[in-house]
Amino acid sequence: MNLPFIQPPQVDWASGAFADSPVLRKSTRIVDLAGVFADEPSRRMLPGEQVVYDVEMLNTSPTEGELYTGVTHLYPGCVGGEYFMTRGHFHARREQGEVYFGLRGTGLLLLQDEQGVARFEKVFAGSVHIIPGFTAHRLINTGAEVLSALAVWPAAAGHDYAALANGFRLRVFANNQNIEVREVQNG
Ligand code: PA5
Ligand code: NI
Repeated sequence: MNLPFIQPPQVDWASGAFADSPVLRKSTRIVDLAGVFADEPSRRMLPGEQVVYDVEMLNTSPTEGELYTGVTHLYPGCVGGEYFMTRGHFHARREQGEVYFGLRGTGLLLLQDEQGVARFEKVFAGSVHIIPGFTAHRLINTGAEVLSALAVWPAAAGHDYAALANGFRLRVFANNQNIEVREVQNG
């Protein structure tokens, strides 16, 4: 047999950069995150074009049964003392889970179930996070470097951002050299 050995996509584990594969890119900027941080006036004071996070995804077919693979690069920074974070979401298909792998930087993965019970997992190079179905998820960069994490999730899962329009139950702030967690009553 003379089958070709297919060259798969590659990821640089140290940086999360994909190579040898077409990728889709999406940048989320300060202007896109209205209402996401607790201190909305502080968000409006920042340059709207400042990028909070970039997502690079392999260009996979969006059909049922396929898996998406993407890397989130969440930059260091704060809005009114609250660490930069992703918008966060439930999957539209609530039963669908996801796996995150920490690649670089330090931060937290905030997980919240449908009853509003929240917990954190530490994210760092080599961390593995099994996000079960029915669980909303958000990355938070508590470090001074870029936080990059690779994610794999079912193409059919979809995103439901509206379900958490009032935010998550827990928020994370920089307090001098410490990480301070505050509980929100309407989250
Ligand atoms: O599938 C995921 O959970 C990630 O790829 C996120 O979509 C990514 O981190 C960006 O976050 P969000 O979709 O909440 O803006
Ligand atoms: Ni997700």
